[in-house]
Amino acid sequence: MPLLDARQRPLRDLRISVTDRCNFRCTYCMPKELFGPDHAFLQRTELLSYEEITRLANLFVAHGVEKIRLTGGEPLVRRDLHTLIAQLREVPGLKDLTLTTNGSLLRAQARKLKEAGLQRITVSLDSLDDETFKRMNDVGVPVATVLDGIEAAREAGLGPIKVNAVVERGVNDAGMVDLARHFKGTGIILRFIEFMDVGTTNGWKLDRVVTLREMADRINAELPIEPAEPNYRGEVAKRWRYRDGSGEIGFISSISQPFCGDCTRARLSPEGELFTCLFAARGHDFRTRLRDGSTDAEIAAFLASVWHVRDDRYSEIRTAETNGSVPRVEMSHIGG
Ligand code: GTP
Ligand code: 5AD
Ligand code: SF4
Ligand code: SF4
Repeated sequence: MPLLDARQRPLRDLRISVTDRCNFRCTYCMPKELFGPDHAFLQRTELLSYEEITRLANLFVAHGVEKIRLTGGEPLVRRDLHTLIAQLREVPGLKDLTLTTNGSLLRAQARKLKEAGLQRITVSLDSLDDETFKRMNDVGVPVATVLDGIEAAREAGLGPIKVNAVVERGVNDAGMVDLARHFKGTGIILRFIEFMDVGTTNGWKLDRVVTLREMADRINAELPIEPAEPNYRGEVAKRWRYRDGSGEIGFISSISQPFCGDCTRARLSPEGELFTCLFAARGHDFRTRLRDGSTDAEIAAFLASVWHVRDDRYSEIRTAETNGSVPRVEMSHIGG
């Protein structure tokens, strides 16, 4: 029996953040002023070990999870991530194992990740224009490094590859068509993401959001597209296809067209707290239970008790007024 929440939504996807650290300082995610040299990142002993993560993954998959996505921070900065992949690939019943990365360390790791059992990968890339991209990642990493990482993933056979671009008005929206043109016809699926009001530190304002409607219109004006059917119920990205048959493109419209009704996602933070919504203020502590001798059955019962009462639908009820006034977990902590 699948676990159902208070809105009858099953638990299907688990996003596991393996670290709160990142080698980028994207202005919309880890602004330098707040994530500087003095920032208190988690200590090693606070992080779940790979064995602890794998134990939880087994329990979650036994209770309905089919897809696991590793996130961060930047997941590839955690030491020997491929050994975690190798452990997760053995979880019976897991159908999809993937990872979201900024791509900067992929050249060095793509093959190892593939050999360990990673199936596919999603790479974030917000602009093809060096100046814009460097301004956004704020650590001077050039576009070429990420494109080379994507190429390494392709060579390693990690696919289908997706590319995520967060669109912020006045920052990188002018480069949307360039990005679309670059990936059109390559088999790589580009998805544009509406800038979200996650966390409390990224200076989000509604007027910085470019909505799906506007993004699709702007792409369509140069490269004709039409809506396509979702791959599965609850898919995060709205799929569109190029009218000339050269592939698809997606839009993630959490602001203008929220998708909470079908939300089957849970998020595990690096220190073992489970968040039932990307916008939740607090998580549920699994680490203590992992470390106090609780049995699998006891931990599973805790999971069931958390999921049964889940009522979250933040994106559907957000208002501009609530932004900043309530505490919320940071994006870099639970990986989007
Ligand atoms: P696949 O469909 O498996 O390829 O992946 P995905 O689109 O679920 O994952 P990805 O990590 O690429 O997420 C893309 C964007 O969607 C990120 O900016 C996420 O923060 C955002 N996102 C994913 N899930 C949710 C969600 O449940 N709620 C909201 N509001 N945003 C989400
Ligand atoms: N709004 C939308 N997407 C965001 N991401 C990070 N911060 C935000 C935000 N404020 C994206 C990253 C990555 C994905 C996991 O989340 O660029 O692609
Ligand atoms: Fe790092 Fe990703 Fe956040 Fe950028 S968006 S700072 S790459 S975690
Ligand atoms: Fe799910 Fe929360 Fe996102 Fe809605 S806002 S789709 S409930 S994670």
